Amino acid sequence: MRDPSVASRMTYSVLDACAARGHEQVTFFNYPEVGLKAIVAIHNTTLGPGLGGCRMRLYPSEGQALDDVLRLSEGMTYKSALAGLPLGGGKAIIMADPSMTQGREALFRKFGECLNALAGRYISAEDMGTSVRDIMWARSVTNFVVGTDAAKGGAGDPSPWTALGVFEAMRAAVAHASGGDSSLRGKRVAVQGVGHVGMFLVELLSKAGASIIVADPHDESVRKAAAEYGAQGVGLDQIYDVPCDIFSPCAVGQTVNAETLKRLSCSIIAGAANNQLPDSSVYGMIAEKKILYCPDFAINSGGVISVSVELAKGSPDTVWIREKVKEIYGTTSKVLEQSKARGRFTEEVAVELAKERLAAAKNRAKP
Ligand SMILES: NC(=O)c1ccc[n+]([C@@H]2O[C@H](COP(=O)([O-])OP(=O)(O)OC[C@H]3O[C@@H](n4cnc5c(N)ncnc54)[C@H](O)[C@@H]3O)[C@@H](O)[C@H]2O)c1
Repeated sequence: MRDPSVASRMTYSVLDACAARGHEQVTFFNYPEVGLKAIVAIHNTTLGPGLGGCRMRLYPSEGQALDDVLRLSEGMTYKSALAGLPLGGGKAIIMADPSMTQGREALFRKFGECLNALAGRYISAEDMGTSVRDIMWARSVTNFVVGTDAAKGGAGDPSPWTALGVFEAMRAAVAHASGGDSSLRGKRVAVQGVGHVGMFLVELLSKAGASIIVADPHDESVRKAAAEYGAQGVGLDQIYDVPCDIFSPCAVGQTVNAETLKRLSCSIIAGAANNQLPDSSVYGMIAEKKILYCPDFAINSGGVISVSVELAKGSPDTVWIREKVKEIYGTTSKVLEQSKARGRFTEEVAVELAKERLAAAKNRAKP
């Protein structure tokens, strides 16, 4: 150790950061021989092992990497709690170039060994920058991964299930706003991002008779949405100005912010992207505009529901997955109703409901 004072300052701030969000365990892994520098954050295991994907990214700093994994793992706790899953919250990040090819297999095998060291307190899966192939390499040395290859008995692509959950949330929000009718027929829905989830969502919306507007930097995806589902493509920046009933962020985080809110004219926001809001500073603005905001972690749990079945023995039960994902309708209604009744922002209510489930489980576990 060259400078112990640096280490002591770092330890202090790291533990502070963990304590601020209530994390149980944060583990750092460092194996330079395979280029593995990873952080695994386990936020809460009251309901079960912490489950969440593994992100691979070149972070601008270790501090930002830590922030990311702490924030995301906390979100997973609330997501699984609200979805009624026997799972806690966890997340992993690997600080490396996601496009790396050489030595990738060795890196993910080592990552698998790291998961073994955590003895099942954390279950990993694919996320931004990682793929099913990476997870399969880890799987060759550990049982503590899900979202494995459908051809090898895994649950396969979670995106259609995530899309179904978001679709159900949209129906619930429309019913809440209209006082009963959940039909999306004739509703104008602006979908930002037609990747894995967005395209499945567009398909569902088209079948439901909605009028769809999409934006995506991949022209090919926009063309497909137009040709197959009758969507109208607009520019990346234009999507914030299109008159619509529902704005659906399905691309990246923080696109619902102080600037874009000035332009959005929707009455509902419901999308798959994680962390759509930068922070609580926009709550007031959303409320003032009388927009019904469906909290991302409450409605994008279809994916985690689908991969969770791999933890049960036997082949994936799609009937169970569909029923569980459809419960997102009821969860969304509850969040919107309680938000109205309590006079609190929907995201705060969703966190409170998740914490109530955690507290109830803790009480039941008391001797
Ligand atoms: N895949 C899942 O099951 C799942 C589950 C939960 C949450 N999410 C979240 O939902 C979002 C979408 O996930 P995905 O799996 O579809 O990802 P994806 O990478 O397949 O799709 C994202 C799409 O957004 C587009 N995009 C990027 N920047 C954009 C911009 N500024 N404007 C418009 N489009 C833009 C990309 O070109 C891409 O087509 C992500 O935030 C992800 O974290 C996904």
